[in-house]
Amino acid sequence: MNFIKSGVKGLDIILKGGIREGNSVLITGAAGTGKSILCLQFAQEAVKNKEPVLLITTEESKENILDYAKTLGLNELLNSKLLNIMERSEIKYQMKTLTDPIKIVKEKKIKRVIFDSITFFDFLYIKDKTEYRTAILDFIKNMKENNVTVMMTSQKSTLDIDRLEYPIEDFLFDGLIILTRIRKGSSFERVIHIAKMRGQDHSLDIFPLTIGKGGIEVHDKELPFSLIERDESMSSKL
Ligand SMILES: Nc1ncnc2c1ncn2[C@@H]1O[C@H](COP(=O)(O)OP(=O)(O)OP(=O)(O)O)[C@@H](O)[C@H]1O
Ligand SMILES: [Mg+2]
Repeated sequence: MNFIKSGVKGLDIILKGGIREGNSVLITGAAGTGKSILCLQFAQEAVKNKEPVLLITTEESKENILDYAKTLGLNELLNSKLLNIMERSEIKYQMKTLTDPIKIVKEKKIKRVIFDSITFFDFLYIKDKTEYRTAILDFIKNMKENNVTVMMTSQKSTLDIDRLEYPIEDFLFDGLIILTRIRKGSSFERVIHIAKMRGQDHSLDIFPLTIGKGGIEVHDKELPFSLIERDESMSSKL
């Protein structure tokens, strides 16, 4: 079994090796939880390995993405010919198929495709939920046939890890990684949880993460203080 490294310190450890090659993974979480940063790190990992990568962006311009990478110190993404960025306006589709990304993947022999975010499909298929689902599934299937590992992001409206809702798109992917924040006194602690990863073993724990130079770091040997304190106060009330 081949594993693709995420490029995020600590994440490959809790994934017990990385992401299975050809799998599609959805990174989901509320605003500002680190989804786009994780995508940039996944792209940088490809570049580090001298692999071409396709990053499809629905909300940002190419300039903004490169500027973001720069602020995070993800310097290998800057001026790299291996990084292919497509903005929403550049993506053509025919008969509900994303012809352009598929063409680029084949031409450039790309093995990692990043889609930030899934809202792109909303714009195309907003009228019909079944078509929306089919379009995403077709894209995932097409990528799998080409042995491409896919990372996509989606938004959650709540931060509360115990009250998360799982919309239909969460079920379409092989993997689901949840990013959120938990209140700790008058501040918030960032956490990550792997909800599923088809065909491989992984940790089910909730781990703290920090964001700084180099992007996200998952603290695979620590537990979130916010949860320990919360559980202790709940058990003392029993
Ligand atoms: N250089 C940095 N150092 C420390 N923290 C940073 C840095 N850059 C960004 N952050 C933190 O990361 C957060 C944003 O992360 P990111 O852009 O990945 O969020 P997102 O989940 O994609 O959000 P959205 O759903 O709005 O697109 C910022 O709100 C900030 O808290
Ligand atoms: Mg984002």
